[in-house]
Amino acid sequence: MTSPVEPTVSVLLDADWASGSLVDDVRRGLGARPLSLPPKWLYDDEGSRLFDEITRLPEYYPTETERAILVRHARDVVAACDATTVVELGSGTSDKTRMLLDAFASAGRLERFVPVDVAEQTLREAADMLSRRYPGLAVQALVGDFTLHLAHLPARTETGSRMVAFLGSTIGNLYVEERRAFLGALADSLEPGDWLLLGTDLVKPVDRLVAAYHDASGTTEAFVRNSLRVLNRELGADFDLGAFSYVPFWDGAMERMDLRLRSEAPQHVRIPGADLELDLALGEEIRVEISTKFRTHLIAEELTDAGFGVERVWDDGDGVPTGDFALTLARRR
Ligand code: AVJ
Repeated sequence: MTSPVEPTVSVLLDADWASGSLVDDVRRGLGARPLSLPPKWLYDDEGSRLFDEITRLPEYYPTETERAILVRHARDVVAACDATTVVELGSGTSDKTRMLLDAFASAGRLERFVPVDVAEQTLREAADMLSRRYPGLAVQALVGDFTLHLAHLPARTETGSRMVAFLGSTIGNLYVEERRAFLGALADSLEPGDWLLLGTDLVKPVDRLVAAYHDASGTTEAFVRNSLRVLNRELGADFDLGAFSYVPFWDGAMERMDLRLRSEAPQHVRIPGADLELDLALGEEIRVEISTKFRTHLIAEELTDAGFGVERVWDDGDGVPTGDFALTLARRR
């Protein structure tokens, strides 16, 4: 029996990262028109709980569809690459990733797992759980922001390459320019021969997309509204949550869901923690999140532009190129 290796947890965020970058983001997003808030502030404890509930809604297909693709193809992913280190960006509880790790472990290839997330407590618990589950695996967790800390990924070992897993279509939350910058920075942080496994939600009929973000139970609405509650709590703001309506819509030109809150009255909002006062006109909207939907040939183009080459694509379409969700395996050139 191999004995468990103690996990390591490196903290790359300074103690006031959260408060400091929240203030910066709020000044930037609500200090100019059109009003917006970056989606990362949706995931406080309550927001994480609501998101977890969303993943179990009948209308919200991405989580279960990606899981089904992993159940079916995790061994194919392992066979198609030569990685011995798995890095996971925005790892959370690494729930779906365990299927990938199981497949690597069965192939006798798993040496090191590097989960990266801003949520320190969740990460510590996941690191302990994974070290117990995979004796002999070196778990080297990084508490960091994957848009800022890609340069801190551990170097590749002599025995094999690294695979970065970025699942859940989280990349869909980035704006086009941010996405380009992110993929470029990721390519810069890797060496030729390293791998990227990218999960992306695909373009599909509008009614299904809208239903996934405007569910009958109102859970997604509560999740989006919670962003204002975060500002009230963290920055002493006085947003009246009841004075906003939830406006999710499909932006066909950009091929993304656009989730907004609309002010149903003219209102004056104070945000003392960000030293900001805001006058909202009747009908004025705050964009809280986008969720971009992809087409596999366009993903391949973006990856190629960033310095990757696509090696394999798996989806849930059983060979029909109209699946709901795709997993793309690309290699750093
Ligand atoms: C976790 C970012 C992939 O965009 O579908 C779900 C977040 N927002 N419902 C998504 C989300 C509203 C989700 N991601």
